[in-house]
Amino acid sequence: MTESDDTAGMADGAVASDQQGNAARSILGGLDHFDDSTPLAAQLAEDARRRIALEGTRFPRPRETRILTVANQKGGVGKTTTTVNLAAALATGGLQVLVIDNDPQGNASTALGIDHHAGTPSTYDVLIDDVPLADVVQPCPDVDGLFCAPATIDLSGAEIELVSMVARENRLRNAISALLSSQSDEERYDYVFIDCPPSLGLLTVNAFVAAREVLIPIQSEYYALEGLSQLLRNIELIRGHLNPTLHVSTILLTMFDKRTNLSRQVADEVHTHFPDQTLEVPIPRSVRISEAPSYGQTVLTYDPGSTGALAYRAAAQEIASRAETTQTSPAMPEPSEAHRTEDVHE
Ligand SMILES: Nc1ncnc2c1ncn2[C@@H]1O[C@H](COP(=O)(O)OP(=O)(O)OP(=O)(O)O)[C@@H](O)[C@H]1O
Ligand SMILES: [Mg+2]
Repeated sequence: MTESDDTAGMADGAVASDQQGNAARSILGGLDHFDDSTPLAAQLAEDARRRIALEGTRFPRPRETRILTVANQKGGVGKTTTTVNLAAALATGGLQVLVIDNDPQGNASTALGIDHHAGTPSTYDVLIDDVPLADVVQPCPDVDGLFCAPATIDLSGAEIELVSMVARENRLRNAISALLSSQSDEERYDYVFIDCPPSLGLLTVNAFVAAREVLIPIQSEYYALEGLSQLLRNIELIRGHLNPTLHVSTILLTMFDKRTNLSRQVADEVHTHFPDQTLEVPIPRSVRISEAPSYGQTVLTYDPGSTGALAYRAAAQEIASRAETTQTSPAMPEPSEAHRTEDVHE
């Protein structure tokens, strides 16, 4: 190709992207006049705005691997759902992401379509038998760049077996450090998520010692904040004795129903108590999110255009944009449109 061909190609590309930009702007402009007088219409308009704002978004690489423990000793608040969907959203945005299933229930492994029948090399082998983490990691079949260290039922015995072991609180941290230091900068994981069981036992302690950040999903329900102070006290204890870098970086409201006062009251309270940590984007209660695991999928692949998938992508973008990064993607849209949550209708 001659230089002039090349220049012409670039000019064509610039025109095409300009046309796309104009089209997106005119659709967005049209949405400003959209009749959002009913909740359904408002939701459709918000989804359309988000879809356009997130179109083709590449997330920036953090300067170093971010290790997040997803914890809340309250059961069923959306820890696993949040872990797998945020991980899939970040991987879909071009990053390398590892999910460590640290819960004997193995729900994260199921949701990612990862084999975890008894006997599969798993987190148990890493914690108890010093098997390298790299030897148990499997690629997620549906999402490029997404990997999982599965949990099998064996892990249910680990809580007791760990009690008598040397350096019992540091075993996961040592395994992750060994894995990361064996990787080149090119292949390094950008994010590691550790999915925890609903308890504050040794498995969760291992996850707290291994991470720098804690992500707490909070269900937008009445009892949501009960038990939170105990969780925060435990994190303080770990910080004081075992991991001085640990901090709660992110709080995410899950199963949010904007039609109810209760959801909004919980959201207000959480935002008031944790103004810097709470993500602007709440995750709505969504049938598609709850259906996806039964197909061994995240909602990102099960129904990428659904409200739930878009909310997790917007949350992932907010998390990624808070990191210290090595590069900024030129495709990153302005976050303001993607994060609007004020369309509350009853
Ligand atoms: N946004 C949502 N909309 C609808 N259902 C949801 C949503 N988030 C999670 N769920 C459903 O709620 C249930 C609990 O979610 P999940 O397993 O993620 O919670 P958990 O905190 O990991 O639970 P556990 O404490 O048992 O590990 C699951 O059936 C899941 O499909
Ligand atoms: Mg779980």
